Amino acid sequence: MSDPVPTPTTAERVARSNFNNWISAVGGVVAAGGLFSFAFLVWMDFTQGDKNPYLGIFTYIVAPGFLIAGLVAVFVGAIMQRRWAIKHAATKPDKWRLDFSNARQRRRLTLFGLGALTFLILSAFGSYQTYLYSESTQFCGQVCHAAMNPEFVAYKRGAHARVDCVECHVGSGAQWFIKAKINGTHQLIAYTLDNYKRPIATPIKNLRPAQDTCEKCHWPQKFNGNVDVSNQHFLSDKKNTEFDVRMLMRVNLGQPGSPIGGIHWHVNPDNRVEYLAIDDKRQDIPWMRVTDLKTGTAKVFRIESFKGEPPADQIRVMDCMDCHNRPAHVFPTANEAVERAMAAGALPTSVPFIKREAVKAMTQPDMTTDAVANQKIADYLRAKYKDAPELATIVSEVQTLYSTTIFPERKADWRVYPNNIGHKDWLGCFRCHDDKHKTELGQPVRSSDCNSCHTIIAQGKGPDLETLSAKGLKFNHPGGELDPDLTCSDCHNGGIQK
Ligand code: HEC
Ligand code: HEC
Ligand code: HEC
Ligand code: HEC
Ligand code: HEC
Ligand code: HEC
Repeated sequence: MSDPVPTPTTAERVARSNFNNWISAVGGVVAAGGLFSFAFLVWMDFTQGDKNPYLGIFTYIVAPGFLIAGLVAVFVGAIMQRRWAIKHAATKPDKWRLDFSNARQRRRLTLFGLGALTFLILSAFGSYQTYLYSESTQFCGQVCHAAMNPEFVAYKRGAHARVDCVECHVGSGAQWFIKAKINGTHQLIAYTLDNYKRPIATPIKNLRPAQDTCEKCHWPQKFNGNVDVSNQHFLSDKKNTEFDVRMLMRVNLGQPGSPIGGIHWHVNPDNRVEYLAIDDKRQDIPWMRVTDLKTGTAKVFRIESFKGEPPADQIRVMDCMDCHNRPAHVFPTANEAVERAMAAGALPTSVPFIKREAVKAMTQPDMTTDAVANQKIADYLRAKYKDAPELATIVSEVQTLYSTTIFPERKADWRVYPNNIGHKDWLGCFRCHDDKHKTELGQPVRSSDCNSCHTIIAQGKGPDLETLSAKGLKFNHPGGELDPDLTCSDCHNGGIQK
């Protein structure tokens, strides 16, 4: 590159200001542009900020970037100009000297001070806004649309739809903030280069421990009582027969300090449950240890084929996320998505076999993109329900169900993201609660029979649901007598039962 600083004419050599050069001039224009856009965008952000997810990025990252780059250029230009003058100019510039008796210098200093103060105030405001923006759900969920869309869509229909992503993914404190920003920069680069993992791998290895996040809002002292859960199902028969299960979940039978029982016993501060998983998804658990922290006694359970001791660095202490691993973004199974649409009346239950056919339409092979899936769903249902007056409704509803629960481009759906609450479609609780894990003395894991975690208080349809059983009912499995050698997820996989 040629010398960026132009050769001054003889007349200029004496009086020329250090700022009088092309680099500073360009910098000045860029800075002024940045400042103007910043002001304009802030105004837009205040008046219509929620509408456009990209507005924040321009307001609080791009515009201040230009402003700062412009200011830097102004000063770099001035320094280069001065250096050039020292080397080449006929009259050497004065040494740096502060002289308050010089009125011109005083004026300049006042101007500079005012400018610096304005800049400081602006940057305090700006960096606070930049911080807020980079922590916002909009930034996390919508800016990297293609990467985060599945989680964002699932998040919006969950119980945590008003809890910011960062409440769980970052939490408070400077150390985690910095970690998250470094991590976030890697992610942004991967997103820009389009080489991020699809599906995004879980369990997230460096997720912040639950005590620091979940327990900010749900602390164990506040747990109490049982939870009433109702699940509405429809069978795959011609009539789409309804079959509901209403259960009382024995979540909390006591308080910490008392010999707490129930499902939240695992996170009682008085004991520690640890386990070893030998697969990436933490589904295959051959070993676990329960320690009573008051007495210091420990009990080890293992499956028969697992001998020896687990490597210490691979042992995980159980926390909320081992059961609630999908607290904010649940990907419902195709079976569940269809059942919910039927329960809500969006899919007409009067159409013969609609449960079965809708699930089959959503789970056809080779649905590689949304567009292909839409076409395949339409073709499949048109062939099945040629003459049905509801055809148009059915097609559009099933396409919507697909596009809000299955994300082929990101490869995200229930098949890659198991939900560990329960045991029907994934092993869930049965990863540990089965009759295969035993202590040295041959004791099995307690609470592994059908009534220890929940009691079924009503099941079936219509009038069956009107009387509740306090004692609990035997599960009247619609798929026939349950085989004790099979787990539920041997047959139930979220699609049509094998
Ligand atoms: C209530 C807590 C919570 C909130 C709020 C939350 N997440 Fe998560 N998220 C989790 C947990 C827990 C996991 C870990 C799942 C695992 O390791 O199996 C996770 C996993 C993820 C993953 C990995 C892929 C996957 O589906 O598991 C992504 C991406 C993600 N979250 C994005 C987001 C975004 C974007 C938001 C905000 C729109 C958000 N999360 C809000 C708790 C939360
Ligand atoms: C910023 C506060 C906040 C944080 C952090 C938070 N939650 Fe929640 N959680 C809520 C609110 C609010 C609800 C909704 C309560 C309601 O609907 O009555 C909720 C509901 C729930 C429910 C019952 C929801 C359901 O699906 O019906 C579970 C389970 C839960 N949270 C688990 C978690 C777990 C696990 C974490 C940590 C990964 C977590 N929460 C982090 C505020 C929070
Ligand atoms: C990582 C292994 C593991 C997983 C996963 C697991 N548990 Fe447990 N659970 C245990 C162990 C170990 C015990 C204590 C067994 C003993 O001492 O005999 C236990 C005890 C219990 C108890 C008895 C608590 C009491 O009152 O004493 C209940 C209830 C329970 N679990 C429910 C569940 C439910 C529901 C799930 C799934 C949402 C689940 N567990 C998942 C390991 C696990
Ligand atoms: C052993 C598995 C397991 C662990 C560990 C666990 N939970 Fe739960 N939790 C459940 C089950 C099962 C339910 C009942 C609701 C259901 O079936 O969806 C539940 C219900 C809840 C609820 C809603 C009901 C209520 O009592 O308000 C919240 C909130 C919750 N859990 C938060 C947490 C938090 C926070 C932690 C960690 C400190 C945690 N859970 C640890 C299994 C677990
Ligand atoms: C270790 C605890 C535990 C044991 C043991 C257990 N369950 Fe469950 N069960 C759960 C949890 C947790 C859920 C999920 C509740 C929910 O939907 O949030 C569940 C859900 C169910 C459901 C409802 C499924 C649905 O999708 O509607 C049925 C039915 C059921 N269990 C039957 C049984 C039967 C039969 C047995 C004995 C073979 C059994 N359970 C043993 C914890 C347990
Ligand atoms: C041998 C295979 C098999 C096993 C094992 C099995 N089921 Fe089923 N289940 C079926 C079939 C087949 C149906 C009927 C499906 C239909 O008509 O849609 C069914 C229906 C159901 C339904 C109602 C319909 C639906 O799709 O949700 C529930 C709830 C259910 N089973 C829960 C369980 C639970 C809980 C277990 C484990 C304790 C279990 N099943 C074990 C095969 C099985």
